Amino acid sequence: SATVLAGCMFGSAMADGMVVGFSQIGSESGWRAAETTLTKQQAEKRGVDLKFADAQQKQENQIKALRSFIAQGVDAILVAPVVATGWDEVLEEAKDAEIPVILLDRTVDASKDLYMTAVTSDLVHEGKVAGEWLVKTAGDKSCNIVELQGTTGSSPAIDRKKGFEEAIAGHDNLKIVRSQTGDFTRTKGKEVMESFLKAEDGGKNICALYAHNDDMAVGAIQAIKEAGLKPGTDILVVSIDAVPDIFLAMAAGEANATVELTPNMAGPAFDALEAFKKDGTMPPKWIQTESKLYTQADDPQKVYEEKKGLGY
Ligand code: AHR
Repeated sequence: SATVLAGCMFGSAMADGMVVGFSQIGSESGWRAAETTLTKQQAEKRGVDLKFADAQQKQENQIKALRSFIAQGVDAILVAPVVATGWDEVLEEAKDAEIPVILLDRTVDASKDLYMTAVTSDLVHEGKVAGEWLVKTAGDKSCNIVELQGTTGSSPAIDRKKGFEEAIAGHDNLKIVRSQTGDFTRTKGKEVMESFLKAEDGGKNICALYAHNDDMAVGAIQAIKEAGLKPGTDILVVSIDAVPDIFLAMAAGEANATVELTPNMAGPAFDALEAFKKDGTMPPKWIQTESKLYTQADDPQKVYEEKKGLGY
């Protein structure tokens, strides 16, 4: 309709000419790569001049990038913080320079006054959803769980662990027997799963794998197959992200469930910046994205086809 069209034109005019720095963590997972693609697409669509910096998994590189954005006098900064701590000083510097900072997909342990808003999912809830799925699926069966954690010190690794533990608490038949970081990567997920399998009688003592992201689960599935076991049957697999490849694994019966995390964090972030630019509207401190559970009952092959084009 005319109203919608006018709104759209006005929206894009608002962002037009804005210079925004984006400090990305790196490219550890399929989800992360999609977030980068979508951020660039969103910027282009809105006429935002995006200054992109890849931190190669290092916080020090992110801090350097933020300082360089501040020195350039950008209009705003987007940052996906690799770890939760150690941000106060550089966020103070951005605040002093009156440059709004928006956190994407991960949270920080810093005062909320130091950033404009955080676009994230409820990371504890994601872990809880995964844990509740396992509680329901395992029933009364005794179940030894192995856990592949995300990057040490990152908010998703901390919170997804917490949420999952909360969900299985009080269910004495469910026990986490091994837990180690797989750095959110396929390679490390596979490597650590191999060591879990070796340590647990070739995998015979393992009933389920909980991975903090799909990429680690995909790597672990390979390790399970190489150990002569059937992922999805001998060892249940539940993870987080809902990237296309996990749906292929689910369609093949090799993964069981995943919790969706949208890679489009930039859309709501740019919306917030546009509203702020227009009339000074401050967004809420937390813009929460949805967390949806997918299981093998959700036609994984179809979801795979649908997801493929969406930044992946
Ligand atoms: O912060 C979000 C997490 O980071 C995603 O779940 C994971 O795939 C990524 O690397």
